Amino acid sequence: MIFVTGGAGFIGSNFVLASLAQGEESVINFDKLTYAGNLNNLLSVQQDSRHIFVQGDICDTAQVAALLAEYQPRAIVHFAAESHVDRSIYGPGEFIQTNINGTFSLLEAARAYWSGLPKAQQEAFRFLHVSTDEVYGSLEKDDAPFTEQHVYAPNSPYSASKAASDHLVRAYHHTYGLPTLTTNCSNNYGPYHFPEKLIPLMINNALAGKSLPIYGDGQQVRDWLYVGDHCAAIHRVLAQGKLGETYNIGGWNEKTNLEVVHALCDLLDQMAPKATGSYRSQITTVQDRPGHDRRYAIDAKKIQSELGWMPVETFETGLRKTVQWYLDNQAWVQAVQSGAYLEWIAHNYQQRGHKE
Ligand code: NAD
Ligand code: DAU
Repeated sequence: MIFVTGGAGFIGSNFVLASLAQGEESVINFDKLTYAGNLNNLLSVQQDSRHIFVQGDICDTAQVAALLAEYQPRAIVHFAAESHVDRSIYGPGEFIQTNINGTFSLLEAARAYWSGLPKAQQEAFRFLHVSTDEVYGSLEKDDAPFTEQHVYAPNSPYSASKAASDHLVRAYHHTYGLPTLTTNCSNNYGPYHFPEKLIPLMINNALAGKSLPIYGDGQQVRDWLYVGDHCAAIHRVLAQGKLGETYNIGGWNEKTNLEVVHALCDLLDQMAPKATGSYRSQITTVQDRPGHDRRYAIDAKKIQSELGWMPVETFETGLRKTVQWYLDNQAWVQAVQSGAYLEWIAHNYQQRGHKE
């Protein structure tokens, strides 16, 4: 059995579904169900007795400790976090609480549980911490991509809080011998992506006839990885990763934001054409994100050479699958566009001088 935190969010739910699809092992899915947590992502495993959902906060060490004692998992895979950079700029408090204090609480519960295990189970136990490439800061145009040795230089409250959590995980391995693994991944996209993030926001806005708001000049570069490939990489690190190590995960797929939005518009023009003209005509520029990192790029050679992991999807195949998923799952999209979602969209984009 594995204990997953944040398994009702975007990547966590994809990971839970993939785990249940590929083996007999049960999953305890521990999630606070913040605005980003969505049980609709898990409807297909609602009746599966191997999926045990428990609502709770990783900051609650006692609740986590009780669950670990009850279920005796062989691993913890830690996704739970506040994950949206723009929200961290408007309100950093929750990011400090969940990403730093929450990871600390979880590590404490894990350490107590692991210390009490019989030797064989202790040796088999793993704590896998899911982190981000944003901890490394921003690259210049011609800089080499981030390796695992790159200096930490986080620039937003989100990335600073994730960097702090990475350091805590490292310290728990170094000091207490907790068998940890850390992964630092680039931008994910795919099914169940909450539509506050670039790709699902653009698909939704395009289909709704709204404008497509590009921050600043749209020349910021991100590396994009299909979420299924990220989940496969996490499974690989969990199975074969070397204790205490970190693994960078990426798609070898750098794109400017404008290139991404153009690609989405072109796909939508083919797959859901408008009565007249292209979706590209809906593109508009808005005020930039404060402190906006210019470029991220991942050197994923270590995970490839040591663990044999490579992404399966290209950007073209992954993006087409993603657009198709959103076209096929409009009920899911409508359901997440609650009052709280609309409030955030109004708050974020009005401040950028954006009118729909
Ligand atoms: P998400 O925002 O979609 O989901 C986060 C989940 O965590 C939600 O289900 C939420 O309810 C839950 N959660 C939040 N606070 C909690 C708490 N205190 N206790 C328990 N559960 C809580 O995030 P995501 O995009 O799926 O990202 C998952 C992880 O992967 C994060 O740690 C993020 O930093 C990391 N990551 C994300 C990306 C990306 O592109 N989205 C890339 C690299 C790394
Ligand atoms: O790099 C990994 C990170 O990727 C993860 O750690 C984060 O959890 C995840 O949210 C993501 O962060 P980004 O800030 O890169 O993702 P976002 O989708 O918010 O933005 C992607 C780029 O698009 C970024 O340069 C900002 C820009 N953008 C975003 C939005 C929402 C726009 O131009 N317009 C928008 O409306």
